[in-house]
Amino acid sequence: MRVAVFSTKPYDRTFLEAANRSHEHTLTFLEPRLTSATARLAEGHDAACLFVNDVASAEVLQQLAAGGTRMLALRSAGFNHVDLAAAARHGFTVARVPAYSPHAVAEHTVGLMLALNRQVHRAYNRVREGNFALDGLLGFDMRGKTVGIVGTGKIGAIVAQIVRGFGCDILAYDLAEHPGCIALGARYVALDDLLTQSDIITLHCPLTPQTYHLIDGAALARMRPGAMLINTSRGALLDAQAAIEALKSGQLGYLGLDVYEEEADLFFEDLSNRVLRDDVFARLLTFPNVIITGHQAFFTQTALTAIAETTMANLTAYAAGQALANLVPLP
Ligand code: NAI
Repeated sequence: MRVAVFSTKPYDRTFLEAANRSHEHTLTFLEPRLTSATARLAEGHDAACLFVNDVASAEVLQQLAAGGTRMLALRSAGFNHVDLAAAARHGFTVARVPAYSPHAVAEHTVGLMLALNRQVHRAYNRVREGNFALDGLLGFDMRGKTVGIVGTGKIGAIVAQIVRGFGCDILAYDLAEHPGCIALGARYVALDDLLTQSDIITLHCPLTPQTYHLIDGAALARMRPGAMLINTSRGALLDAQAAIEALKSGQLGYLGLDVYEEEADLFFEDLSNRVLRDDVFARLLTFPNVIITGHQAFFTQTALTAIAETTMANLTAYAAGQALANLVPLP
């Protein structure tokens, strides 16, 4: 099959080419993101292969369909960047990579917790400048703290395992209970109880209309004063402007982000020679108790290998007319 691979970085190419050796699709590697301005690059390709910031809007899907593309192979678990109703209208088949390494994301999540708690980011700079003072670096023991996990699917359940290993108590909120989390001693509670009783809150639910700005000003106000919030899931779960207000007042004690609502214009690119125009993002960067990473939680060798292999298997199954195990159901 001819496949237009959007948002290609050198590392994507390396892993996709390796996985394709046993599939032999014709891959066209395209650096640009998929937008209405770049959709025509897929003309004549059977499939478009997309990453998280490629936007498959109704307009884009219409353009892709007009160019003969009928399959979207997502290199991600999330599919909030695809207009599923429009995909159905235009006869697309959409497949994803439901799990590539939940461990990668869970481990990065806990890395953010530890770095914020023990201020590793500040300590690193201080020591390099010959400043060995400890004032301002005081942390807390993780043992005995309550971690609230919102969304206990594949990633949330692994976060639960790791923090249980530290001796944390676990509160959980989800539409469905995870037996593994219950076995660890997690208590499922209402979201409001999780907000009011947790020292650390970490978000692992998908972005849906129901979870958009799940953590808004009201939710932040319900949290324990000085609590820590981690979001490695999707940026729009958090109202970033409300988080800034909560950080300014001290209500929010620590914020760790791997995702940001407006990240599509920022992340995955070297913008170090440009002026940062996003004032909300710029303000977040000024807080000593905020750590932001640029959507790198998934970025391990294990995960990139799994993403590439599952993506190729999805394309091959589609080409062979087989039932797709990783089909995204369309309305
Ligand atoms: P999953 O599908 O295994 O788990 C998601 C959980 O959220 C499920 O248990 C589901 O019942 C729950 N949920 C759904 N709607 C909810 C709601 N309204 N309230 C509370 N819980 C709700 O997904 P997985 O693999 O654990 O991934 C979680 C999220 O992590 C993904 O949706 C994606 O956005 C994000 N992610 C981020 C990555 C990164 O590099 N930063 C990489 C991979 C995923």
